[in-house]
Amino acid sequence: MRVFHPPVTAIELAVDKLKQDGLVHPEARFNHDAEHGLRREVTYRDGDLQYRLGHSSKAVEIVDAALKMLVSLEFVPSKASYDKTAFTGFHAEIKETFKGPWTSITPVMERLLYMLTAVKRPKRLVELGSFWGNTLAWFAGPCIGRVRKFAPEKIYGIDIDVEMTELARRNFAKLENCESVELIGEDAATALERIEGPIDFLYLEAKDENNNSGYLEFLKQSYNKLPRGAWVIAHDTTHWAHQADLVGYLAWVRDSHNFSESVSFDIDQFGLELSIK
Ligand SMILES: C[S@@+](CC[C@H](N)C(=O)[O-])C[C@H]1O[C@@H](n2cnc3c(N)ncnc32)[C@H](O)[C@@H]1O
Repeated sequence: MRVFHPPVTAIELAVDKLKQDGLVHPEARFNHDAEHGLRREVTYRDGDLQYRLGHSSKAVEIVDAALKMLVSLEFVPSKASYDKTAFTGFHAEIKETFKGPWTSITPVMERLLYMLTAVKRPKRLVELGSFWGNTLAWFAGPCIGRVRKFAPEKIYGIDIDVEMTELARRNFAKLENCESVELIGEDAATALERIEGPIDFLYLEAKDENNNSGYLEFLKQSYNKLPRGAWVIAHDTTHWAHQADLVGYLAWVRDSHNFSESVSFDIDQFGLELSIK
């Protein structure tokens, strides 16, 4: 298991913001060498730091550093990149058109999701727990919209909430180049039975109102449809409210019998785990 942390400059900027906002003492220092990750380092109000990292003005640098890590681990070719101008255009398009309730996707996470799909270039993308389409939009970003970078075979968004799925349909109907998007309002457990493989990029978001996720069951159900080299991402993997529920999931994806690599992107309050089969 590996952990990505934002660059030192981004962490220092977030600490400076905490000081400006009066949340930590002006003389407080972040201990970059201490163990146990970001959340142990600044103060007991560490959610404040994570919030500021997720909304950092250094989002470009943070995601560039994440990409550099993927390159250094040879998960993607050395020349892998994503189109930042296209991202800016897509970002404006989504903010203008998509409507729905609050979601936990931070601005840095939006960019990270977009970059991952841009460099992976999957053919079949599946999200479980697609809600009203916001998470799916960032995940599928390079494949849809006015500035589409490439056309995949299929993009599925599955959610048990039929009303939210209808809202997602209305949102995607406002975007160009969405002919490969299919939104299914159904329990992922039954919908997955009909989804054909190979699924080369799977995104797990499905959890109920008590924060119980179906991540591990859905992953095991899909496992045989994931080809070697497939990527699986799971959101909310570092958030305190999901820790107990996700112990089994994280142990399973970090077991080298199941996945060759697993990286925790500890970039905001919520986090994302990328696992490579
Ligand atoms: C609230 S969303 C996650 C939102 C995400 N963290 C965000 O902030 O955008 C979780 C979604 O999982 C969906 N869900 C829960 N159980 C499910 C299941 N068995 N199959 C499909 N979707 C499910 C819920 O309906 C909900 O829309």
